[in-house]
Amino acid sequence: MRTIPPPVEWCGDSVRILDQRALPHREEFLECRTVEEVAGAIRSMAIRGAPVLGIAAAFGVALAAATSRARGTNALVRQLGRAADALVATRPTAVNIRWAVARVLEVARDECCRVGATRARVHEALVAEALRIEAEDREACAAMGRHGVELVPERANVLTHCNTGRLCTAGIGTALGVVYTAHERGTGVHVWVDETRPVLQGARLTAWELGRLGVPMTLVADGAAASLMAAGRVDLVLVGADRIARNGDVANKVGTYGLAVLARHHGVPFYVVAPTSTVDLDTPNGRHIPIEERDPEEVTGVLGSRLAPEGVRALNPAFDVTPAELVTAIVTERGTLRPPFTRSLEVAVAAAAGRRPRTGSRDEGREP
Ligand code: MRU
Repeated sequence: MRTIPPPVEWCGDSVRILDQRALPHREEFLECRTVEEVAGAIRSMAIRGAPVLGIAAAFGVALAAATSRARGTNALVRQLGRAADALVATRPTAVNIRWAVARVLEVARDECCRVGATRARVHEALVAEALRIEAEDREACAAMGRHGVELVPERANVLTHCNTGRLCTAGIGTALGVVYTAHERGTGVHVWVDETRPVLQGARLTAWELGRLGVPMTLVADGAAASLMAAGRVDLVLVGADRIARNGDVANKVGTYGLAVLARHHGVPFYVVAPTSTVDLDTPNGRHIPIEERDPEEVTGVLGSRLAPEGVRALNPAFDVTPAELVTAIVTERGTLRPPFTRSLEVAVAAAAGRRPRTGSRDEGREP
């Protein structure tokens, strides 16, 4: 069985990124030496998927420190703040970028307050924190796999959307991590892979990953989900998330909301699998989640080839929001959370950060 190369790697003075735009046909890598190059790779979707975007952004801030010409550590921290803002702006829906850069910036600020602070020490501390974020994500994936597999019956037909596997995390993935865990345990899992228009993460990336790792799968057009569910051929839906609001509303790849509505109509459980780094307690509900709009040409064509007539107007929201009421459960590294999510998400996030939840309100979900 062939392996999947890591989607991002810290190489000492550069960040090596597997260029996902070339998959599944070629394995090509970008060598980013500046934070601007990392931001470019994120914007162009050479690297994509919420958790790994956070990791790449953290490495990007470390590169910004390495290449900085700021005079003094205070000026350095201001410069790193601007670099972080630029990274957050690349893909505004994926909250993992904001979460990861906030974490490394805090480390930079702390380091600057120490006696004898130097740019080299700040840089060293940033790299160490970014590598910690990467290692924690790997562990979180394994834990989500262990929790999520309990929801997957024997010989299950799982429907999934977009790509949520090894290509977009430091580990086995989120929703696909659950699938890999079920496969390893010999449960006989089979996956319906939505092709995921417009950028085809399902057809290009998920099909490639599952194929490489020997997981039985069938690729379907996005529009096939309804009739598959009506025919009783889907046992559960497993998707990832780019941001989960405080009330449990979930932003994920456009098309996810439609799947949730279909799942409810057909009595199919709809599970979201995401680490707590994807939970944004500062955003009260899905209406406040910024939805990235991408180039309409992704819709008027396929991977650079024009399909629609010249001059056709197209809209390209990259994500949509699934209301919490359509989500059966959210699988995190801290356990499986059931609705209502407001309290259970807060408890899970606090536990992940090693502190008590902010308020003492009644527990509304399973204790993580
Ligand atoms: O636009 P993308 O490819 O970055 O979108 C990715 C997704 O929507 C994934 O489902 C999400 O990031 C979860 S990944 C573990």
